Amino acid sequence: MALVETLTNIDLFSELSNRELKKVASFMTPISVRAGRDLTVQGKPGREFMIIAEGTATVRRDGRVIASLGPGDFFGELAVIAGVPRTATVTADTDMVIQALNRREFSSLLDGSPKLAKKILVGAVKRLHEIEQSLVR
Ligand code: CMP
Repeated sequence: MALVETLTNIDLFSELSNRELKKVASFMTPISVRAGRDLTVQGKPGREFMIIAEGTATVRRDGRVIASLGPGDFFGELAVIAGVPRTATVTADTDMVIQALNRREFSSLLDGSPKLAKKILVGAVKRLHEIEQSLVR
């Protein structure tokens, strides 16, 4: 399937025009990943924002599972947006295909689409809220 068509089915991109989708697709680099590989490591610097095209991954903080991610889900936005260390370790459960964007590409993506930027912002705040809740529990 063409990448633009695949992107149409991803909730994050559902409000984008065809022109915007083409722009998004042009920023993406597909990467094949083997099961078991760490895609982010908690506490380490991170340079990529990633969207899952195929496969599933587990998100862990301090060794505890906090979320599972699958096709269409994104991760890695927190370190890339703010330049802070990775807040969690994301590990491939299966062989995966990831669409990766570096900081510059991610920044261009957000500049080009306020709707998308808002969705990512809301997602990031929710994730930080969950992390904060888990700290007081
Ligand atoms: P980042 O901190 O760059 O790297 C680890 C990623 O895990 C983080 O970005 C988020 O994308 C993701 N993440 C952190 N907390 C959660 C959560 N509570 N639920 C889902 N994903 C999360």
